[in-house]
Amino acid sequence: MRNVLPAAMLLALAATAPTVHAAPVRLCGFPHSATEALDREVAHAVFQRAGLAYTRVDLGDAIGRRGASADLVSKLLGSRCDVFIGVPVASHFDKLKPASVLDTPYLNASFVKFHAVGVHVADGGRDTTAVAYKSPAQLIAAEEHDAQFDVLGDTSAVIDAVAQGKDAYGIAWYPSLVTYQQQHPQVHFATSATRTSISDWRLSFLTDTRHAALAAHIASAVHELQQDGSLPRLTSAWQMHADSMRIAPGALAHAQPAVFRPDDAGVMLRTSNAPAAGAQAHFAQSQVEPGRKLYAADCARCHGDHMEGRTAPALRGEAFAPATGSTMTVGGIYQYMTTNMPADKPGMLKPQEYADIMAYLLHANGYTPSGQALDPAHAGDDQTPFNSYVK
Ligand code: HEC
Repeated sequence: MRNVLPAAMLLALAATAPTVHAAPVRLCGFPHSATEALDREVAHAVFQRAGLAYTRVDLGDAIGRRGASADLVSKLLGSRCDVFIGVPVASHFDKLKPASVLDTPYLNASFVKFHAVGVHVADGGRDTTAVAYKSPAQLIAAEEHDAQFDVLGDTSAVIDAVAQGKDAYGIAWYPSLVTYQQQHPQVHFATSATRTSISDWRLSFLTDTRHAALAAHIASAVHELQQDGSLPRLTSAWQMHADSMRIAPGALAHAQPAVFRPDDAGVMLRTSNAPAAGAQAHFAQSQVEPGRKLYAADCARCHGDHMEGRTAPALRGEAFAPATGSTMTVGGIYQYMTTNMPADKPGMLKPQEYADIMAYLLHANGYTPSGQALDPAHAGDDQTPFNSYVK
């Protein structure tokens, strides 16, 4: 069930001009995040230091277990929230950031490789590394060439598998490990850095340029709490160990914009839309062959020669999208792909090349061309639900 606000209430919310001192700051967070409790404490300390009144906004089920899309977060920042806390921001997205996003990090919280100390590993699991399906961990795994991966449903399944010796290693978001450890004090994990900078994340406050003054207040409060030792004390259980990590704890950057991927479960492309009327989409047949060549060169090694999925999810058939009622859109997939793919070199292709790959993706999923070429300038706006018409 969705929490639906009456229209009048939405209007009232939109009308409250979010200036720094007037109304209490509307704070939103991620109710299912591993760092929920920590985020609350940090928010409390930071707003108190900044001398700002705040109120926690209950977003109901607007934000699910798997986090929220960048889109949803920026929509909420434009309507129901002034600030988000607990937003995991990936360092490698800095170069792709929209200028409108302001982030104030308060903790380095990266993905780490880990194993359970003193646990007997089952024969089949000696060389395997557990990762969660469709998480950044899966992406990180794709970079760790010499291991075999055991792709599991979610992060807690991954940590369980390692704790029980089914897999020798796992890759997970460090805060998820901390939470698990708090609930299972008898298990001891040893962590180490992975080889890729895709692992480097930070936990942050997040707002947009409409709230630049507020962002500056938060940034200086975070800085002060960092300096006087209160923030390090508050976050001590969550600090990654300097000896095993590449990132020095406490090395917090100044407020800077970034693109983010909330929650360790990865970006959600899903939006709700009416099912497609037919299987025609905007692209030209002439784009399909160039798209196929680009796919083979830049995507196939992870997504499979026939999009069947390999170290990365399938991109065709029912494993990718349902035949009807899909909640993914053509534009959403396009935007996701242009900012995040290829996973090891996001944004490396030219806009026209991404458009051609998108045409090939549509073709491979059973769409027929409208004849009008898919234009990279507008492909991201296409709200057509992306169903797959092939098995
Ligand atoms: C180095 C491996 C790698 C390469 C190369 C790569 N991808 Fe991906 N891709 C991934 C992984 C891993 C995911 C899942 C990530 C996640 O959900 O956080 C993914 C996810 C996706 C998704 C979203 C799938 C879904 O079900 O949500 C699309 C679309 C996609 N990739 C397209 C592409 C395209 C197009 C290319 C080539 C230009 C490409 N990828 C190249 C690893 C790769």
